[in-house]
Amino acid sequence: MIETVTQLKRLRALVRSWKKEGLRVALVPTMGNLHEGHFTLVRQARRHADKVVASVFVNPTQFGPNEDFDRYPRTPQADVTGLEAAGCDVAWMPDVEQMYPLGLDQVTTVSVNGEVAGVLEGERRPGHFDGVCTVVSRLFHQVGPDVALFGKKDYQQLAVIEQLVAELQFPLELVGVDIVREDDGLARSSRNQYLDEAERAAAPQLYRVLRQMRAACAAGLPHEMVQTSAAEALTEAGFVVDYAVVRRRDLGMAEDGIDQPRVALLAARIGNTRLIDNIEF
Ligand code: PAF
Repeated sequence: MIETVTQLKRLRALVRSWKKEGLRVALVPTMGNLHEGHFTLVRQARRHADKVVASVFVNPTQFGPNEDFDRYPRTPQADVTGLEAAGCDVAWMPDVEQMYPLGLDQVTTVSVNGEVAGVLEGERRPGHFDGVCTVVSRLFHQVGPDVALFGKKDYQQLAVIEQLVAELQFPLELVGVDIVREDDGLARSSRNQYLDEAERAAAPQLYRVLRQMRAACAAGLPHEMVQTSAAEALTEAGFVVDYAVVRRRDLGMAEDGIDQPRVALLAARIGNTRLIDNIEF
């Protein structure tokens, strides 16, 4: 039976009792409105630990003033049902007061410095990664997990959190879990439900373009050319492109003519919805 916990005191008592028994604890942080991508994280978590905590918290500090915090889908009951079916032990569902006890104007912000947080999403969504690192640090303090799992759809988020864990020396292991896709290739995301029928029909182009980028890189085309063609293809498909880039796995600039592990990343808007996706190769 899953337990839904809304008070930090109760959460800490539970984790303390598990640790006393020598059990390993996994954390799966989420913002709710859970889908197969999240449930895959929970199932993976079960393989890494004896007890699994999933947090469900739509974190206000990681949304910009013109972003979708208010309309972000909230489905707590379905989330708990799905978490239980996936094998989760505790749904940690704090309210804003439990997470930010002195109020949103008194938040101690945790901010990762350096290029990994400053490029791509960091450039387009100022303050976003500060909000993510702030809440993820709190979740690590609250739960004290031995292992924490994050989806690779937010590729840069995982890279930023890796730096956070290294720099603040959180004693835990990080696990990145592969992207879960629909049959037509669209990466699972809570934001997919914003798409109308025509937008939904166009959305799989993102993954098609990513595969083209991978193939073009494999054929040795210069990265600049790969990026330009990708942006053009997406624009033609009706997207407004934020970025279409090939980077090294650490998100540094990939040099031409070197066969090294890389990642292609896209962010693009269709209608009012901003989608991101990536592929490693
Ligand atoms: O990836 C997400 O859903 C969020 O950014 C996270 C990690 C749960 C922090 O709010």
